[in-house]
Amino acid sequence: MTSDNRDTAVAWRFHDATKYCAGRDESGAEWFGMGTPPHVEPSIWQQDWSLEPYPFKVYETLPPLEIPHELAPSPRPALQAIARTGAEADATALPDRAALARIGLLSNGLMGRHARTARGGTVEFRTAGGTGARYHLEVYFVCADLPDLPAGVYQYAAHDHSLRQLRAGDFRGVLVDATGGEPAVTRAPVILALTSTFWRNAWRYKARAYRHAFWDAGTALTNVLAVAAAGDLGARVVMGYADAPVNALLGVDGRDEAVIALCAIGRATEAAPPALEVPPLALPTRSISPRQVEFPQIQILHTASGLASGAEAVAWRAEPLRRPPPEPAGAVVALRPLPEPAWSGVPIEDVIFGRRSTRHYAADVPIPFDAFSTLLELSSRGIDADCLAADSPPLHDRYLIVNNVEGLAPGVYVHHRGLAAIELLREGDFRAQAQRLACLQGYAADAHVNCYSLASLRPVFERYGNRGYRLAQLEASLYSGKLHLATRPFRLGAVGSTSLDDEVTEFFSPHAAGKSYLFVVVFGRRRPASAP
Ligand SMILES: Cc1cc2nc3c(=O)[nH]c(=O)nc-3n(C[C@H](O)[C@H](O)[C@H](O)COP(=O)(O)O)c2cc1C
Repeated sequence: MTSDNRDTAVAWRFHDATKYCAGRDESGAEWFGMGTPPHVEPSIWQQDWSLEPYPFKVYETLPPLEIPHELAPSPRPALQAIARTGAEADATALPDRAALARIGLLSNGLMGRHARTARGGTVEFRTAGGTGARYHLEVYFVCADLPDLPAGVYQYAAHDHSLRQLRAGDFRGVLVDATGGEPAVTRAPVILALTSTFWRNAWRYKARAYRHAFWDAGTALTNVLAVAAAGDLGARVVMGYADAPVNALLGVDGRDEAVIALCAIGRATEAAPPALEVPPLALPTRSISPRQVEFPQIQILHTASGLASGAEAVAWRAEPLRRPPPEPAGAVVALRPLPEPAWSGVPIEDVIFGRRSTRHYAADVPIPFDAFSTLLELSSRGIDADCLAADSPPLHDRYLIVNNVEGLAPGVYVHHRGLAAIELLREGDFRAQAQRLACLQGYAADAHVNCYSLASLRPVFERYGNRGYRLAQLEASLYSGKLHLATRPFRLGAVGSTSLDDEVTEFFSPHAAGKSYLFVVVFGRRRPASAP
């Protein structure tokens, strides 16, 4: 690890400075701010609309390369695909141009749905949800020669569903070196690189955009993993890489736009060739704002969580954190997931194009216990990642506020993944508290379940340094993203949310004492917005 990465006071400072909390103004009225008392600031920036960032990266001089728009149905149905980790040995397909089209479109492409904003603008929704629809991610592919696409570095251009070729040639060796020879990267015909252009989100959310980078990356990568699994492609998330050479390969500066995750896709029999020279790129792109406002905490943590070389990446992932599974201390309820043959056969393409954030729930009609059980179980089987142990629980624990599940007492539960059970921590009606924790957003009270991910960050930081902050946010988002996506085949809906950090920990304590809020997804039975 770099000495910067080891100084985890940086991650703690960032975490404390970007918490949402409640305060009172002089008149005694409550307001929500960002920070930790007494250092609290308004949580939203969004002051100068002339600076509102353009949500697409458009290369001005590169011609679009056509890719298929029509998607043939994938062989494996959505739920089976979502449940996969990416490591399954039978995933032996090799990616081609259509696979890249499918992955780009279904993770960061246009949904074909738009809304007018209060100011008369237009939001074009993407296939993966994103905090405040302030889309800030870009997808790149670093490819070997594929059957119908020459080797190169490509951007998936969301605005016109095409590829832009940034470099010609097989540059995968650069990523092999940057990851210190990570085995999946070495054998993958395609490595997807996900970047965040932080300002596109920070314009509204200030420094909390750095958390959102990994929340939204997890949401988009959920789709990547599911689409890959549906097409029999192996996939591994890779968080251990030297940042600078990866950014240089894509021609991004690592500051305004930076690589935040890699995903190795497919398994070839031959390893990538040695790294080619990487000359600088000078490709003009459309300006996204006349100027941008600095939120220095983003740069401070991003720099302090960097890795400097492939050797550092090897050391960083060498001993994944293995924490003991939390033991139940009270009564547990066994989950009753549906057997896989009984799962819906709806294809992943339909699930992704049919998904929307659900903010209206039929609060009084329970959801079935078997659907609830299946969703918890299939979304927590794990993800294949370079730096996580497959035989260990995830870094986070799942806490549930159950409002209305058939046959289950309303109350607060913790999920014991290894036991396929939930443990009742507190029985009662906690709808009002759920709404408060979600910054007073009413959908949390109406939804049937609020599923919170919390983690003890101290051991995560001890093992992974500041980069553990990236990893913890991403991992929680991936698990929650799977849950969100999987609701649709059950005719349920979900929405990611934001929450009042320390109040969340207090609410789930004493069980959650010392843990930090990372992510929440709420889900339940949808009702039309107009219905009473
Ligand atoms: C991590 C995450 C957090 C979110 N937080 C909120 C929230 O606090 N309140 C809300 O109304 N929507 C929230 N959303 C939903 C987004 O606003 C939504 O994804 C975006 O507007 C795009 O709409 P769509 O999901 O229907 O495609 C969140 C989404 C994500 C992925």
